[in-house]
Amino acid sequence: MEKLLGKLIQESRDLAGHGRVADYIPILAEACPNDIGICIMDIDGNIHGKGSYDHGFTLQSISKVMALMLALLDNGKQKVFSRVGMKPTIEPFNSLHDARHYNQRIPSNPMINAGAMVVTDLIGGRGREKADRLLNLIRDITSNPNIDYDEETYLSEKGTAERNRAIAYLLKDLRLLDGDVEEVLDAYFRQCSIQMDCMDLAKVGLFLANRCKAPNIIWDDGEEMASLILAIMNTCGMYDFSGEYAVKVGVPSKSGVAGGILAAVPNRFGIGIYGPSLDQYGNSIVGCKIMEELSKELDLNIFR
Ligand code: DON
Repeated sequence: MEKLLGKLIQESRDLAGHGRVADYIPILAEACPNDIGICIMDIDGNIHGKGSYDHGFTLQSISKVMALMLALLDNGKQKVFSRVGMKPTIEPFNSLHDARHYNQRIPSNPMINAGAMVVTDLIGGRGREKADRLLNLIRDITSNPNIDYDEETYLSEKGTAERNRAIAYLLKDLRLLDGDVEEVLDAYFRQCSIQMDCMDLAKVGLFLANRCKAPNIIWDDGEEMASLILAIMNTCGMYDFSGEYAVKVGVPSKSGVAGGILAAVPNRFGIGIYGPSLDQYGNSIVGCKIMEELSKELDLNIFR
């Protein structure tokens, strides 16, 4: 397996030059496009890592997956999906238009920024407490108490978040947010700044692949939670590239602008990938290619 992972990293390395690291959050512009890492964990707990798989990076939009988990635990499916939709979208992740989609009265899905802010609003607690509860859930899932916020990234995003502020204030104006706008935004910036490496991400993937079961976590509705979240990852997790990604890769995945990809192959693998050079959709350009090749090599496509 290590040999295969090494080969895939090597073969996709040139692609990094065809993408760009995110720079609308200033600190993300400092990432090195040639840092590429991958970690795969199988259902028996075997771990395979290659490249910069222990390099820490911020979750950014990948946090939307675990935030949805927590909002569902706090509120139940009915309440959550009365406030945010389950529809894939062709809008980019930071679409202002999606705050109130033309044919519905709520954001289209929990993976796009507008929907994710509604999800953060639904998480129990005030202000920082929301993000701290999410951080603790992630520490539990990964059994890694050292996972924490990257304060520099948090401040970097908070200081330059005009677009997200516009989305949040529009949501509030449309009566789609209950809480204080700045508190919701602050919790959202904090959740995006949670820092992990590929191994931690693979553990989250494995938790989903294992139907939301872990030795230290027993949820009554774990099975239902896993299928719901995997379905949303599959239809919305790679933004307006999700359809093409489902055809090419066929593995429920979620990307973040720092270059991470979280992937879960039901009953088989959890996968974490890092490659900060992004394509036009805001997905890791190298990560998507590695997932495509890995899917062929290990027969991961869930639609086959
Ligand atoms: O809200 C933002 O713009 C970022 N904190 C997260 C966006 C993101 O990761 C989009 N992903 N590919």
